[in-house]
Amino acid sequence: MQAKERIILALDVDSEEKALSLVEMLHPHVGLFKVGMQLFNSVGPDIIHRIHDRGGEVFLDLKFHDIPNTVGAVSRVVAGMGCMMFNVHCAGGREMMEAAAGAVREAAVKLGISRSRVLGVTVLTSLSQSQFNAELGIPGAIRDTVVRWAVMAQDSGLDGVVASPHEVRAIRERCGPDFLIVTPGVRPTWADTQDQKRVTTPREAVEFGADYLVIGRPITASPDPVAAAQKITAELED
Ligand code: C5P
Repeated sequence: MQAKERIILALDVDSEEKALSLVEMLHPHVGLFKVGMQLFNSVGPDIIHRIHDRGGEVFLDLKFHDIPNTVGAVSRVVAGMGCMMFNVHCAGGREMMEAAAGAVREAAVKLGISRSRVLGVTVLTSLSQSQFNAELGIPGAIRDTVVRWAVMAQDSGLDGVVASPHEVRAIRERCGPDFLIVTPGVRPTWADTQDQKRVTTPREAVEFGADYLVIGRPITASPDPVAAAQKITAELED
């Protein structure tokens, strides 16, 4: 994979105009565009087609979590729209993840399109160890659950997981080289960390074993987004 293909640009904006201007400017310089809840719910599903029309690929970050039948049904819809990746919560359990994985396989065969990759969201990195134990009532270290859920996602037919850079190594060890790992929480040394904590650089994340890096503001808030994307790519290639 080329270094620039590893970059997933987070389109954390609230209008179609802002999103598409970033897509037009950056599609030659990054691998995919992440459409999250804010943009999707502000402008609607058509944004996916508009990004495709401009030559971009989409990671739809809506983190589905519902009964298996419902998640299977929405997975069929999303796969049919040609999203390259989307995600579901591992906390929905094995049967729910199997429904998502099965639906994308069926949709790809039926429509003759390439199959969407389905990723599992393990434990949200915003949760602290004490919230995890006391509020969610799950005993033990967060990292142990992250790895256990990643293994369950793989056994359920998912293509990979979204994880913190600090969990990448442990997941890679357990799930092998072909399991996709997508990581946010990366910051080049020259960028502001903003509200991100416990960051690593893009290069370190790849050295830990990440396949894709979700990066937003270091590129989108830069006075020259193309130059920022190219600088990150150069650092990855170095
Ligand atoms: O602007 P920034 O590079 O911080 O954007 C990171 C993106 O990754 C945002 O869309 C954010 O919601 C997402 N994300 C994250 N940390 C997680 C999971 C997702 O920053 N643990």
